[in-house]
Amino acid sequence: MTPSLPIKAARQQPRAVTFASSPAGIKGTLVLPLTSEGDLATRAALLSEAERGAIARALTAAEFDYTDQGTLSLRGIGGWDRIHVVSTGKDLSPAAIQKLGVMAGRALMKDKGPITVLAGGLTAEAAAEIATGMGIGEYRSDLYQAKAREASAPAGTTIVSDAAEAARTAYDDRGKGLVEAMAFARDLSNEPANVVYPESFVERTRAAFAGIAGVNIEALDVPAMEKLSMGSILGSGRGSARPPRMLIVRYTGRGAPSAGPVVLAGKGITFDSGGISIKSSSGMGDMKFDMSGAASVVGAVLALSKSRAPVDVVAVAALTENMPDGNAARPADVLQAMNGKTIEIISTDAEGRLVLADAVAYADAMLNPAAIVDMATLTGSIMTALGDDYAGLFSRHDPLARQLLQAGDASGDLLWQMPLHPSYAEDTKSTIADIKNSGGSGAGAGAGAHFIGAFVKPETPWAHIDIAGMAWGGANDLKPAGASGYGVRLLEAFVRNFQPVPKVAPEE
Ligand code: BES
Ligand code: MN
Ligand code: ZN
Repeated sequence: MTPSLPIKAARQQPRAVTFASSPAGIKGTLVLPLTSEGDLATRAALLSEAERGAIARALTAAEFDYTDQGTLSLRGIGGWDRIHVVSTGKDLSPAAIQKLGVMAGRALMKDKGPITVLAGGLTAEAAAEIATGMGIGEYRSDLYQAKAREASAPAGTTIVSDAAEAARTAYDDRGKGLVEAMAFARDLSNEPANVVYPESFVERTRAAFAGIAGVNIEALDVPAMEKLSMGSILGSGRGSARPPRMLIVRYTGRGAPSAGPVVLAGKGITFDSGGISIKSSSGMGDMKFDMSGAASVVGAVLALSKSRAPVDVVAVAALTENMPDGNAARPADVLQAMNGKTIEIISTDAEGRLVLADAVAYADAMLNPAAIVDMATLTGSIMTALGDDYAGLFSRHDPLARQLLQAGDASGDLLWQMPLHPSYAEDTKSTIADIKNSGGSGAGAGAGAHFIGAFVKPETPWAHIDIAGMAWGGANDLKPAGASGYGVRLLEAFVRNFQPVPKVAPEE
């Protein structure tokens, strides 16, 4: 492959987080969460009466709405650069509190001074969720704007809580790992395809996991995949100068159940040009994000391992670049996946299901999985159906689907269950091979889900999550432009709370 000059993203300097029973100083930015008008007197008790009076007048004048999450930023009060009032709204669930933190972290990203959050009267868990959210909200996607990123190390954040010790423990035990894993996954996704390709994805993963206990990383190269007869991923990757990899990251925590791991398989197309079935040029650059599923499954394992969760989990990232070339697979080519099933290629642009076929077949044959959940930016069709509010969930095992839906609600990474109608099997029937990789028109997301399911034994609890509408987007109150990190929090919560489900084939 033609060498190109290596480039390296500028480093983001995260804010240090501390928990304390009183503020470190009266300067910088004050974050004041309020649930009701009465909260001001108690939560802001350590402000002067004059300061509280000024805040109260401003809140009244602005007709501040305590029933919904909202903000009012005030300047010129006391010694503070600004006082950032946030209403918690009525929903005080961990996900809602974390979201509040995300918005605050993002809104205050450019504040130079220290940040003090008044979390008195809130539980230790809520204080930790605010810190977690703020860390996630401070993420920057301006990887190659060195000046902006490296300008100066930001001052720290102090969370003031009457349960400071317990809040710190809660944050260290879970939140901190999530913040770091979210940044890891989003950085991987945001990186262009000349920087992140299968081999460099593996290197970055190894670097991120270095020194974490209970982790084992294996990366299958082309000869190793040939030995395992992974003809589907190899066929799909043949057009690229960058060789494919099957990356396997296992984390087994102390006290983990021994019923077999939960396997998280991720679509890792480091660039999806469509291959010979080439995409049109407008928006093609977005296909650098086509490895977001792989980034999220590895990110979830990173979060779980950093927080020493008592779980057994494996991320399998199917990494290829989908390119047109003299060596590339063609429409009408037939490939054979690791489980022996033959595949007629209708479109080389339906490549995600090709690489995942071998990922889930590998997991099923080699890992004795308690469950397999795959995550993929699989279809434009799911964006048409669910937009950017929900990822699509497909499963033959309702007890597994229920746990995922629950994790979606708990984490804020929402899921909506979609059908797996038997007709999708008809749609993907081939006249030359066992199955074809596109069902033509109709339920595109469902056909893709059905295809992947054909490479998992019917009795293995399996679910497919199509995140094409969720993985990236423009800037908003919760994220900068680019990768969202969707799925890291969902899968972290899912694996942490996973209860084994019966391994039975669904009734037809
Ligand atoms: N990576 C795309 C899906 C995608 C498209 C994600 C737009 C996010 C935004 C996937 O590989 C693809 O090309 N899917 C095709 C499948 C079709 C050829 C059966 C699609 O959705 O059109
Ligand atoms: Mn494609
Ligand atoms: Zn794709």
